[in-house]
Amino acid sequence: MSDVDDTDAQGPDGPADLPGRLNGPPTGSDQPEQRRVAIPTGRELVARIPLLGLLLERTEAAGLALDGVYLVGGAVRDAILAGDGLPTPVFDLDLAVEGAASETFAELLAAAIGGEVIAEHRFGTATVLAVLVQGAPPVRIDVAACRTETYAEPGALPEVTLGATIAEDLARRDFTANAVAVALAADADGNHLVVDPYNGMIDIFTRLLRGIHDQTFHDDPTRIMRLARYSGRLRFPVEPATRELAVEAVAAGAIQTISADRMRQELELILEEAAWDPLTLLAAWGVLDTLDARLEESFRLPFLVMRIDEATAGDVDLSRRVWKMRLGALTIGLGDDVIGWLRWLGFPGDVIAEVDGHVRLLRFVRDQGDDLLTLANSDLYLELGEVVDDSFALAALAEDEQPRFARLDAYRIALRDTALTLRGEDVMAAGIAGGPEVGRILGTLFLRALDGELPTPEAERAALGELVAQSKAGGSDEADAGTSAP
Ligand code: CTP
Repeated sequence: MSDVDDTDAQGPDGPADLPGRLNGPPTGSDQPEQRRVAIPTGRELVARIPLLGLLLERTEAAGLALDGVYLVGGAVRDAILAGDGLPTPVFDLDLAVEGAASETFAELLAAAIGGEVIAEHRFGTATVLAVLVQGAPPVRIDVAACRTETYAEPGALPEVTLGATIAEDLARRDFTANAVAVALAADADGNHLVVDPYNGMIDIFTRLLRGIHDQTFHDDPTRIMRLARYSGRLRFPVEPATRELAVEAVAAGAIQTISADRMRQELELILEEAAWDPLTLLAAWGVLDTLDARLEESFRLPFLVMRIDEATAGDVDLSRRVWKMRLGALTIGLGDDVIGWLRWLGFPGDVIAEVDGHVRLLRFVRDQGDDLLTLANSDLYLELGEVVDDSFALAALAEDEQPRFARLDAYRIALRDTALTLRGEDVMAAGIAGGPEVGRILGTLFLRALDGELPTPEAERAALGELVAQSKAGGSDEADAGTSAP
C-alpha cells in the first residue's frame, strides 16, 4: 500500500475516500453536506500509536525480526478513530503472532525492549510488561499465537488450534471494528500491511458495529455485553442485522449460558464506563430482563446512572472509581435481594457491603419522602449506621428536593465531625465495672453528640455522670438504646 494524502487515498478495498458524517466542519460552500476522509495507510496507523513506534525502535535496535507479527484489536481500532477527531491514548497492545511459537516470541520481545514476561497463560498467550517511556507506567503487551477456535456449544470454552494465519485469526473475532490487523514488520517502502478482511476500517469510518459473521453471539454470548459496551463508548450504532442476531440469541437463552464469573466481569467493565447507553441497549435486547426483571425498572427510574455518567463525564479515572455507585443504581429495585444477587455473581464481600450500603440509603431516602426532614441524626444513625461518602454522593444525585438533599448532607457532616472525647476507661473510672454497659453508655453518648447535644468535653462528662447514676439506680431507657459507639 502506498503512502496517501487526504485527496487520493486508496484503502485495501478500492476507493478510500468515503463520505463521512463526523469529520469536522465543511471546508467550502460548494460542499455543504459531505466531507471526504482518507483511509489511513499502515504507516500512518503506526505513526498514530507512539508506544508502538517506541517498541519498533527497540526491536529494530535489538535485531528482533517481526515477520508474521501483527497489532490487532482495540489499539488498531482506536488509531483509525484517532484520525477521525477522537484521539484515544493507547496503553495496552495486543499482538497476534503467526505460527505457534508465541511464548518464544514473548520472551524475545521482552528481552529486546527491556521488559519482562509477567504471565504465560493457557492457549499460547503471554503478557509482557515494559516501561517504554521513562517515568511513565509500564505498557502491557498481550502476545497470542494466531489461532482458530471452534465452539461445541454457546458459552463453552473454545477448542483452540494454534498455528493459524492472521486472516484465520481475525475470523474468530467479534466485530469488524476489532478485526483489523497491522503488520509490525515494514515492507521495503517502509509501509505496514493492513489486513482487513471484513472491511472493519469502513465500518469504523461509518461508525457501525457489525458482527463478523452470523455465529458471533452463538460462539461467545458475552459478546452481547461487549456489543452494548462498545456501542456506548464509541458512540457507534449497532448495525441492524447484528442487533437482530443479538436479540435472537438473548431470546434463545444465550445469556443463561454465561457463567456468573464472566457475567460479573462483563458487568463490571460496563459499569466502569459511562453506562447509561449500554444499559439501555441491554434492556432493549432483553438482557436485563433475563438477569432479573427488576433491574430495568431499577436503573431507569431515577435516571441515576445517567446522572452519574454526567457527573463523571470526560474523567475516565473518576468514571472507573464510581462503578460501585452505578451498580447500586442498577440494583436498587432488587430490594432485600441485592446481597444475594451480588453474591450469586461472585462479587467480593467488600464490594457487596458497599453496594448494599448505597442501595439501603437510596431506598431509605425514597421511602421516607419528606419525613426525612423530621428525623434527628440519631434516628438516621440507628436506621443506617455508618454511611460512606459515595453513598451520600449517590443519594444526592438521586435527590431533586433541595431540603431533603440539605438534610442528608447535614447528616453526612455530623457523621464526619462527631467524635467523643470520652473513652471506655473514662466510663469505668466514673464507676461502671466494665462489660457491655460501657459500650451502651458510650453509644448513647455518641447518639446525643450526633444530635449536637454534647458540644464540649464538659457537656460529655456531665452527660456521662447522669448516665452512670441512672445505670447504678437500676438501668435507663436511654442506655438501652441498642447501639454502641463506632
Ligand atoms: N475478542 C473477541 N471476543 C471476545 C473478546 C475479545 O473477539 N469475547 C477479540 C476482539 O478482537 C478484541 C480482542 O479480542 O479486539 C481483544 O479483546 P479485549 O482486550 O477485550 O478488547 P480490546 O481490543 O483491547 O478493546 P478495548 O480494550 O478497547 O475494549
